[in-house]
Amino acid sequence: MATTTSPADAPVGRSAGLPAVAPADAPGYAGGAAPATMRAVVQRRYGGPDTLALEHLPVPSPGPDEVLVEVHAAGVDRGTEHLMTGRPWLVRLAGYGLRRPRNPVPGLDVAGRVVAVGAAVTRFRIGDEVLGTARGSFAEYAVAPESALAAKPVEVSFVEAAALTVSGTTALEALVDVGGPVAGRRVLVIGASGGVGSHAVQIARVLGARVDAVAGTPNLAYVAALGADTVHDHRTTSLDAVDTRYDLVVDIGGRNPLRRLRRLLLPGGTLVIVGGENGNRLTGGVGRQVRALVWSRFIAERLAVFISEPSADRIERLLTLVTDGGLRPPVEAVFPLAEAPTALRHLASGSSRGKTVLTVRP
Ligand SMILES: NC(=O)c1ccc[n+]([C@@H]2O[C@H](COP(=O)([O-])OP(=O)(O)OC[C@H]3O[C@@H](n4cnc5c(N)ncnc54)[C@H](OP(=O)(O)O)[C@@H]3O)[C@@H](O)[C@H]2O)c1
Repeated sequence: MATTTSPADAPVGRSAGLPAVAPADAPGYAGGAAPATMRAVVQRRYGGPDTLALEHLPVPSPGPDEVLVEVHAAGVDRGTEHLMTGRPWLVRLAGYGLRRPRNPVPGLDVAGRVVAVGAAVTRFRIGDEVLGTARGSFAEYAVAPESALAAKPVEVSFVEAAALTVSGTTALEALVDVGGPVAGRRVLVIGASGGVGSHAVQIARVLGARVDAVAGTPNLAYVAALGADTVHDHRTTSLDAVDTRYDLVVDIGGRNPLRRLRRLLLPGGTLVIVGGENGNRLTGGVGRQVRALVWSRFIAERLAVFISEPSADRIERLLTLVTDGGLRPPVEAVFPLAEAPTALRHLASGSSRGKTVLTVRP
């Protein structure tokens, strides 16, 4: 059974998109060098997907250690949704803009081609195909720090590449860099059908772990196909009823209480908290992470939290798992740029699985 939907097969959104704006490259633009203006999804205030509009903006200029990327595809992720809504409020206090988004163009995950480089850039040249994170990837052009990009292998499509960085490096960081070596260990991934979880199940499997998972009823078969041995249905089974104990539990969804999660650990095991939706409006429920750090000092098990950092090194390690290990970018849905609101609604609905990607250049 195929573990993921290939980009060619992936459903393409068909609902009404944003009002049409002519592509920057429509009249006589042959690609390569950047034009003066570009189409971009723009957000002038915090709110739901209806706050997004398609506009023409000046193409941004890269700083000395930055690269200008001609965007071919952009990934949609929970962080981008939080920055769109301004919820939890903590994201506003973290410097993203108190009253409105500081950067009006949303989007982090990017895959595309380098069209300009800053004076201090050493790793990339014009024409290189890259993936990574950018400032405002829901646009025809986006600036990215050199340190947040890696070279895109030819066998990975732009759509696949755009799905990888944010969620895939978070999964890799949670499992290996924070969790520890996973080969031969028993791992439980909670929230296994989402963007991070669909990477985590595969990565743990590729690295030689025995993986169990937790997902909702419609996604049990999907998660099993990603490589999970046993998939628990959180809609019908409380984690209190799970008998198996694990070396490593990666907590990505459901916001279960710490006591319940700790009970799943083998003596000396590790819990890594990645996140979880539907926390309170102010902090998103980050108090659970704070309590985990405090509690971890007094018990035999390790309770760990982290804020992901998709560095070039981590993206390259992830790519090795794709090219040599059989990790498949879990693309579920593909929408054109103008349907960014539909793509974000799809993610926020809770019915998405794997990754949603916007195509910027067909
Ligand atoms: N620490 C960091 O640096 C970092 C980095 C990236 C993301 N995050 C956070 O991690 C969380 C997940 O991100 P994501 O991109 O994977 O989001 P996502 O694509 O929306 O996936 C979340 C998954 O959680 C699952 N879920 C919902 N209720 C659940 C429950 N009661 N028990 C178990 N699973 C449940 C859902 O699966 P079903 O539909 O199958 O129920 C859903 O697929 C978000 O809160 C995000 O903000 C943190």
